[in-house]
Amino acid sequence: MKLSRPLVLICTLIAAACGGSETAESAEPLLLLAEGSSDLPTVLVYKTPTCGCCNGWIEHLRAAGFTVDARNTTDLMTIKMDAGVPTPMMSCHTALVDGYVIEGHVPAEQLKRLLAERPDLAGIAVPGMPAGSPGMESSNPQPYQVLSFDNEGNAAVFADIDPGDR
Ligand code: CU
Ligand code: CU
Repeated sequence: MKLSRPLVLICTLIAAACGGSETAESAEPLLLLAEGSSDLPTVLVYKTPTCGCCNGWIEHLRAAGFTVDARNTTDLMTIKMDAGVPTPMMSCHTALVDGYVIEGHVPAEQLKRLLAERPDLAGIAVPGMPAGSPGMESSNPQPYQVLSFDNEGNAAVFADIDPGDR
């Protein structure tokens, strides 16, 4: 799979496309932590302080049973680079869970599938911010793909998602 897009576009996307309300992170009651404790591991999410759609994704994960540790950062790009997220796959937030990197608005069910199958991958990503992905709810949802990546730079399709198909 050939993937190339200028880094500057990605930076602009991260900085500009994700404004909005700030509701989900911080000040979670301890009660919620206990409530979320199942066999699902905690998802550590890095996001920028003003990202509204990131909070939408975090709420989606919590609704699916995950415990989420959301952290604001002003240097998200460094976190993405350190995590090995391929530049063309970058989105608005970067998450770490159980040894895997999760980039962007990946559906919780795909996250669960990753954790159940435990393939030899570095992580999975939904590049950009497709309309209709979790946290990017839209009246005009579009099909999109969840891509996988490994440490050798190999990309593959992990799932085809049609959000209008439910
Ligand atoms: Cu987003
Ligand atoms: Cu986000």
